[in-house]
Amino acid sequence: MKITVVGAGNVGATCADVLAYREVANEVILLDIKEGLAEGKALDIWQKAPIDLYDTRTYGVTNDYAQTAGSEVVVITSGLPRKPGMSRDDLISTNAGIVKSVTEQIMQYSPEAILVVVSNPLDVMTYAAHKVSGQNRMKVMGMAGILDTARYRAFLASELNVSPKDIQAVLMGGHGDTMVPLPRYTTVGGIPVTELLSKDRLDPIVQRTINGGGELVKLMGTSAWYAPGSAAAQMVEAIVKDQRRVFPVCISLEGEYGIKDCYLGVPVILGKNGIEKIIELDSPPTKKNSSRYPAARSAK
Ligand code: NAI
Ligand code: 2OP
Repeated sequence: MKITVVGAGNVGATCADVLAYREVANEVILLDIKEGLAEGKALDIWQKAPIDLYDTRTYGVTNDYAQTAGSEVVVITSGLPRKPGMSRDDLISTNAGIVKSVTEQIMQYSPEAILVVVSNPLDVMTYAAHKVSGQNRMKVMGMAGILDTARYRAFLASELNVSPKDIQAVLMGGHGDTMVPLPRYTTVGGIPVTELLSKDRLDPIVQRTINGGGELVKLMGTSAWYAPGSAAAQMVEAIVKDQRRVFPVCISLEGEYGIKDCYLGVPVILGKNGIEKIIELDSPPTKKNSSRYPAARSAK
């Protein structure tokens, strides 16, 4: 079982590290365009194996796609991250070229691969990868919902002083201003969060979640990588182990939720075929029940 991670920067290297540490596959290929970077990070991760006790082999390559041949899942993290003052959309022109060329080369060597896109702006980059790959829409997806939900759950855990393990939540929409955390689908050990927190305490948490990426860019001068890398690895694990996990994932909507030809985050079941099922909620965010309804934003 081979997994490839394209981009050996902050997010890609973290993702490869988590995949190895959790022994999700026996081989992880890390690829980058920068000479020696992927080789160095893959070697560093492999040298951690005797300490952390895993046997996943990690190999780094500089732009050599032949080494990625036969990958079951490919995570695409290549591209520029945000700097303070930039929006995710400011990255479109540079990252679209990178994601297109990476996808073409990946598909040449792994035509059956399931693609997990991370590069920003996420919804648009996932759409681009889908178009270029010619792959079934259920096999091309973007990682954002797990990260955004994790931020929401972490903020709730701090506010309530409880374990984040016991917080379950759903969030929909785009990765950015159009994301919609959904308190009415949020529980704490099975108890609706609305029974534990007043609107006055919940609203700032929802807003902080929506600005979660920007908060970290402001602090660090670049975007986050620990939670994003782990989130992408969690998606790969669900696919590779056919776990049928229920996650919010950025996918191509073709009529679901009344939206067509648009990549957006919705809850799905993730398993060995990629998206096994799209879950359509009875009361999704609408203009009536949410002030933050995600406008159906075409990625064209
Ligand atoms: P980074 O700058 O640390 O790493 C990016 C890597 O991509 C660099 O090592 C660079 O050499 C490589 N690269 C550039 N062009 C390439 C090409 N044509 N082929 C192969 N490799 C290439 O950036 P970081 O922090 O890892 O972020 C990566 C991307 O992920 C950014 O676009 C960022 O905005 C996005 N991101 C998305 C998140 C999400 O929730 N979807 C969360 C965090 C980051
Ligand atoms: C994040 O949400 C910037 O998309 C990146 O951290």
